[in-house]
Parts: sequence; structure tokens; C-alpha cells
Amino acid sequence: MADNRELLQARFGMDIPDAEVPDAIAPLLDRRVVRRYKDEPVPDSLLDGLLAAAQSAPAKSDLQQYSVIVMRDAPRIKQIADWIGTMDWIATAPVFLIWCGDMRRGQRLCDMHEMPHANNNLDTFLNTAVDCALAMGAFMAAAEAVGLGTCPISYVRSHIERVSPLLGLPSGVYPVAGLTVGWPVFRRPTSMRLPPSVVVHRERYDDRKLAEDIAGYNHRRRTREPVAAAGLKNNDIYPPRDGVGWSENVARQLSVPERFGFKAYLKTKGFDLA
Ligand SMILES: Cc1cc2nc3c(=O)[nH]c(=O)nc-3n(C[C@H](O)[C@H](O)[C@H](O)COP(=O)(O)O)c2cc1C
Repeated sequence: MADNRELLQARFGMDIPDAEVPDAIAPLLDRRVVRRYKDEPVPDSLLDGLLAAAQSAPAKSDLQQYSVIVMRDAPRIKQIADWIGTMDWIATAPVFLIWCGDMRRGQRLCDMHEMPHANNNLDTFLNTAVDCALAMGAFMAAAEAVGLGTCPISYVRSHIERVSPLLGLPSGVYPVAGLTVGWPVFRRPTSMRLPPSVVVHRERYDDRKLAEDIAGYNHRRRTREPVAAAGLKNNDIYPPRDGVGWSENVARQLSVPERFGFKAYLKTKGFDLA
């Protein structure tokens, strides 16, 4: 348990004196993404076990509205890595999973039972994304438990018009995120998280101390892992400078629209989003 306090310190850069960290949850506090993989295969049988763990995640109304495409063909994985262009670690992964929200299966089930599908709406879109994310999260925890490393890749959505036909995604199915899977070459340091006081609200939402808490977080992060020049967002719009903290870098990213064509794309794939 003494070591588990160190995990909290690593995760938050500060003591969280009231938190109890039993050994059973210690690996969850110690997780991180892995962006470089050994040239070693992930056995099919192990992958199938991890996917079974993913399918054990809860799903809204037991509807199970997601699918996952398993990619093992190196040239096809590299094709996606090349489209993205800036994430060469994708091509080093022996397995690339594409986690998809899936409204289509429910539509087909309604067809099979000669009933209308009357839920092509925003709520279903959200449910598909949540089911998918929970399954991906369960997969990541299972993979980490056996020593594998993973990294989600939202950038598959930046090239959705190419990725979708490559994978043969039909109407009603869209990628939520890719996930690289492989044996880690090295583990990056723990990425520091916002203090619980910012994220965890008791009984009522309360962000009155946000500015003060963020100033402390910026300071702790800057001390341990200053934002590198290469990590500065939207340098072409905001001149690069030293000393940019986490919150300013977030603002630099969020001030520019990302993937604003996504809704139009979903509409072409049969989502009404009504
Ligand atoms: C939905 C989602 C999408 C992500 N997309 C990418 C991505 O496209 N490329 C990448 O290198 N990392 C991606 N990440 C990884 C995050 O950058 C990473 O989780 C974050 O920096 C915190 O690091 P940690 O997971 O090691 O704590 C993604 C993570 C999530 C949850």
C-alpha cells in the first residue's frame, strides 16, 4: 500500500491523502498509453480473450451497439498511418483495432422481425459511442493487465472518408477511435491528471475554484513535464513561445474547430441525429 501512495503522487503530482488505493486497483492508476511496439506478434488466442473481455463491458439496454474491426495486415495498417502522417507509431503496431459505433445491427434486427426502426436519433448516436468507448476501455485494461500496450487513435476520424471504405463500413457504422495494440518497447512516464477537486463534484456541480486549481495544476505539470515545442497546438495561428502551460495549450487546441465535417459525414452514413 505504501507504494500505491506513490502511484497517486505520480498521477496527480500531489498527495491525495483521503484516497485509499487497494492493490487491486493499483494497475489502473499506473496505466499509460504506449506509442512504440516490439516486432513481436500478439497471438490470435490472446487477442480473442482480450476481445471477450471487451465484450463483457456493460451496454445500454443490453443493445450492444458497437463493432470492432481487427486489422493485422501490416500494409493496410501502414496505409492508415500514412494518411494520418504524423503518428508513425501506428505502423509499428502488430494489431490495429477500429472501434465503431453501430446502429446498423439494430436496424437489421428490426427488419428481421418486420418492425420499423424508430430510433435513428441523437440519443442512439450517443448510445453507440458510449457502448463502443466502454468496450474499448475494457479492452485497454485487459491488454495492460497482460503486459500489452495500447493507444487510442481519434485521428482515424480525420481521414474518415478514406478509412471508412478501406474497412467496408456500411451505413449506420462509423469509427469512434482506432486502437494500436502491441508489446511495449518502453513505458512513458505517467501523465499527470487534473486534481480531483476539479473533476469530482460532491452532490452539486461547483467550479468556483477552477482558476485557482488550474493555476496549481499548470505549475505542477510545468515542473514535471513542460509543454515541449513539438507539443504546442496550432503554432501557425498562435506564435510559439516558452512557458505555455497545460490550460493554455488546451485553449490553443479548442479555439480551432476540429473535424467540423463529422456531422455531415454521419448524415451520409444514415444517421439522422434528430
Ligand atoms: C478517444 C481518444 C483518442 C485519442 N487519440 C489519440 C491519437 O489520435 N493519437 C495519439 O497518439 N494518442 C491519442 N490518444 C491518447 C491520449 O493522447 C492520451 O491518452 C493522453 O495524452 C493521456 O496520456 P495517458 O493515456 O498515457 O495517460 C487518444 C486517447 C483517447 C481516449
